[in-house]
Amino acid sequence: MNGLDARHYLLRVWLLRDRVASFEEFPFCLPALRGLDSLEMHPAVTFLIGDNGTGKSTLLEAIAIAWGFNLEGGSVNFSFSTRASHSGLHERLRLARSIRRPRDGFFLRAESFFNLATEIERLDQIACPEPSVISGFGGKSLHEQSHGESFLALLTHRLRGGGLYLLDEPEAALSPMRQMAALTRIHDLVGLDSQFLIATHSPILMAYPNATIYQLNENGIRRVQYTDTEYYTVTKAFLNKHEEMLRTLMERET
Ligand SMILES: Nc1ncnc2c1ncn2[C@@H]1O[C@H](COP(=O)(O)OP(=O)(O)O)[C@@H](O)[C@H]1O
Ligand SMILES: [Mg+2]
Repeated sequence: MNGLDARHYLLRVWLLRDRVASFEEFPFCLPALRGLDSLEMHPAVTFLIGDNGTGKSTLLEAIAIAWGFNLEGGSVNFSFSTRASHSGLHERLRLARSIRRPRDGFFLRAESFFNLATEIERLDQIACPEPSVISGFGGKSLHEQSHGESFLALLTHRLRGGGLYLLDEPEAALSPMRQMAALTRIHDLVGLDSQFLIATHSPILMAYPNATIYQLNENGIRRVQYTDTEYYTVTKAFLNKHEEMLRTLMERET
């Protein structure tokens, strides 16, 4: 696929290694970054997976800033207070962008959904935008919906398609059924020329067909197949033999 007929917006992310002063310091000391050269993005859905602390959020945030998203999460238009970036990683990334510009965009930080809900309410109080900001999210205050409901409202009403969407652990509040509903919506949005980069622990979400999955661990970042991931094998083993697994997990030396 060449740049001219690329269906996506973010093609590749390079780490400018010669601009890194030291790979002994955070965040470059993280195994995922130490050996990183570049990551190719799938036209539809790319996942970052890996244990807590492997650097998924650090990388996702840096990509988001380098792209131009507001650090507190939200669309490029939400200009509420930004937290300064301490890592400096975004300044050492080069993003290869397609010549196509997305019509929409959203960066969902794992911990900033509450801030976003608050900001939408504030905007609707001070200004008199027509239509109201909240109407773009389904019309019901995100604070009055459960976390899971509000995330689905975001996916359904706010993300319009033709966009680049970065999501950090979007499954956090979703039941398995809702995660499946989220998969359906993600697929619809992909059909509307959208591209996703998602950090996740959800074995349901990461099952998205033909997605590129990057596994971060103590050895670095490498591409893996869904059925080779620990998430898949461990979840499957657990569900198939949960009684046996529980016995092993809860055995105590006496
Ligand atoms: N400012 C910082 N200085 C040093 N270490 C940090 C800083 N911020 C995060 N870390 C560490 O970097 C690692 C990666 O964090 P993070 O990107 O949040 O991981 P993940 O999203 O994969 O769980 C963690 O071990 C975290 O404790
Ligand atoms: Mg994280």
